[in-house]
Amino acid sequence: MNAQREPVRALLALGSNLGDRRVELELALARLAREPGVRLLEVSGWHETDPVGGPPGQARYLNGVARVETALGPRELLQRLQALEARAGRDRAHELRNGPRRLDLDLLFHGEASLDEPGLQLPHPRLEQREFVLGPLAELEPERRLARSGLTVREQLLRLRGDDAARPAAAPIVRLNDPQSAQAWCREQRARGRSIGFVPTMGALHAGHLELARRAAAENDRAVVSVFVNPLQFNDPADFARYPRDFEGDSRLLAGAGCALVFTGTLEQFFPGRVQADGGLAPQLWLEPGPSAAGLEGSRRPGHFRGVATIVARLFELIEPARAYFGQKDFQQTLVVQDLARARGAPEIVICPTSREPGGLARSSRNQLLSPAERERAQGLFAALGLAREAWIGGVREARALGELLRAELLRHEFDVEYAEIRDPERWTALAPENPLERAIALLAVRVGRTRLIDNLRLDEPSSGVR
Ligand code: PAJ
Repeated sequence: MNAQREPVRALLALGSNLGDRRVELELALARLAREPGVRLLEVSGWHETDPVGGPPGQARYLNGVARVETALGPRELLQRLQALEARAGRDRAHELRNGPRRLDLDLLFHGEASLDEPGLQLPHPRLEQREFVLGPLAELEPERRLARSGLTVREQLLRLRGDDAARPAAAPIVRLNDPQSAQAWCREQRARGRSIGFVPTMGALHAGHLELARRAAAENDRAVVSVFVNPLQFNDPADFARYPRDFEGDSRLLAGAGCALVFTGTLEQFFPGRVQADGGLAPQLWLEPGPSAAGLEGSRRPGHFRGVATIVARLFELIEPARAYFGQKDFQQTLVVQDLARARGAPEIVICPTSREPGGLARSSRNQLLSPAERERAQGLFAALGLAREAWIGGVREARALGELLRAELLRHEFDVEYAEIRDPERWTALAPENPLERAIALLAVRVGRTRLIDNLRLDEPSSGVR
């Protein structure tokens, strides 16, 4: 059974409705990607669905589908999946039928295999009735024909949903090249009583940015996105020069995500008449960030958060959004902008979870600068954060012990570590957190080749069951 075979494509269903669901799913994928004999090819987005069967009152599920290439036979692959479930704390022997679970991994298809053995039926016998499988599957393989119904995945999904689920065509997006016009546009929208959800970005947009944009569009009457590679926050001119730029491509993506306005501008347009001959900003216009900016990124990138706070405050002033959306990926930045919003009294700050590539690498515009080999290596960052989380779950509560474990794992993979630390996310300014910790977040910055990457992971589970 363990004989090497020709690699085949297999499709897996993933689900979780317990703990930090998204992290559970992404850690499982990252671990799967490192299993010998398995290559992770593609992953759908995460779909939130109601639980089917099981005890009443349980939390909603997060579901997805992954495509892998594997030299493992179906039973061997299934065993690996079950080992991953066990590692996530799932105890099949003692759980309720259809009860809450941290991780549920199923094999849907294994090449062309058609099997009906105890504990292993392929294709998965119930998949055609499960909207929570067909939804994500339709993203990867809409035209795959299903054996029982004879329909394609897309057709079967439409049938289950009972409507044509046709999406309305994306409305055209307004594109403006100067912040003053954007300000006027937003004023008019607010005057008509429309709420604005705002996503500040530096462009070169990826799926993580688009999650923020979609959420802003869903939770507000109008979603507005700024694309501005802000020179004020780059402490390294070479980094600024290398930063990818693609306003055309970004605008198209944002239109597809349901955004109403995208705008850009120059530093001079953001601060008319206040840019000095050397290209810098007049000193009195800089905004000093609060104590959240101390340490970690603040120490490694002197002046960075001053530049972030200065531009974000200016953007808030121009757009006056009801809500502004930021990613957990830049955790310390979320603290800086929360301080800023608190001081101004607005807007409401919404923090969105870190979006990851299939192998666990946090999405970043800078990932484009990695070579394929570097990208592969960079997946080790999430794996290292996952180990720290496992130690936390195993009962380790000491910041130093957790930090050392994280650092040792990064060094073992020969990362050039700038920092690897554990903090109490709610008592951030306590630079040496008290032990034992009640809450913890692990944060790291490394260099992979010429590219600087950051990532973080909550070790405890603040959001039990909810995103
Ligand atoms: P940028 O790096 O373009 O990021 C824009 C927003 O997208 C930030 O809130 C960031 O945290 C979020 N984001 C980036 N990658 C993400 C990921 N993988 N998952 C979830 N969210 C992600 O951050 C900036 O720009 C700038 O500092 C800015 C706030 C625009 C000020 O110039």
